[in-house]
Amino acid sequence: MRTVFLNGEFMPASSAAISPLDRGFIFGDGIYEVIPAYGRRPFRLAEHLERLRHSLDGVRIEPPYSDEQWSGILHELVQRNHEDDQSIYLQVTRGVAKRDHAFPQGVRPTVFAMTSPLVPVPAEIRSGGVTAITLDDIRWEYCHLKTTSLLPNILLRQQALDQGAAEAILIRRGEVTEGAASNLFVVLDGVLVTPPKGPRLLPGITRDLIIEIAAGNGIDCREGTVTSADLSRAQEIWLTSSTREILPVTRLDGREVGGGRPGPLWTRMIALYQDYKRDYKARWQANGDGPHD
Ligand code: PDD
Repeated sequence: MRTVFLNGEFMPASSAAISPLDRGFIFGDGIYEVIPAYGRRPFRLAEHLERLRHSLDGVRIEPPYSDEQWSGILHELVQRNHEDDQSIYLQVTRGVAKRDHAFPQGVRPTVFAMTSPLVPVPAEIRSGGVTAITLDDIRWEYCHLKTTSLLPNILLRQQALDQGAAEAILIRRGEVTEGAASNLFVVLDGVLVTPPKGPRLLPGITRDLIIEIAAGNGIDCREGTVTSADLSRAQEIWLTSSTREILPVTRLDGREVGGGRPGPLWTRMIALYQDYKRDYKARWQANGDGPHD
């Protein structure tokens, strides 16, 4: 039985109950985070908590906990579950109130967190790459906030799955934004390029880490506009997220990307990424159950 956290208490998942009047259920009025934990340590936690604060601020929900309190809760949650590598899902809604579009007064946010085993993308899928399709980005204008109102993302992802693709790459007025649940990098003339941050895409924690790793290893990486035409001529296309890490796209809209195989820059970056994770795990194993990062 998995242990979850709900409104201040740890409990078995089967005991956790939320009112149907919760504004998360009625309006999708909430925000969330997905944080990988490697070796039972939440990965890039400071960065995830910073994005959580931005999302809360963006939808005007008072932060229910300080960063230190969040850190304590999440560390305890991964300790109370069994796997070394887990995916933490954390959600905050505006709380339980009589149904009314206006914000309720004096209502406590609902806070829920759970984990699931973090299952790596199978090696054969990773090394063969995945198929993607391009679709019009029909989402709203606040995509930088990690809100739970994910209906457009769900419809877009499902459309990709229905066509035998792993992800939808979204395009707004000719410019690529991101995937339905991932950020995007392309290799153009040997340079790694990712669309710039702004309201049209989620500032991915994995995206930032890849930019950081690129900078530390002499890989030319730039934030810049990526057009539909750039997608057609890209030598490599990658999708990134906390759960899928860095996934090469080897078919897009029915044609091969980079000869239908993951490219050399992806091969280099995924190795650097795995090294980074290995160092992270080793650091905590060496330090024992030391202070939270
Ligand atoms: N989503 N863009 C969107 C729309 C996303 O939903 C995600 C991740 C990302 C990548 O962000 P990060 O690198 O911080 O995981 C980009 C999570 C994994 C999810 O909804 O399950």
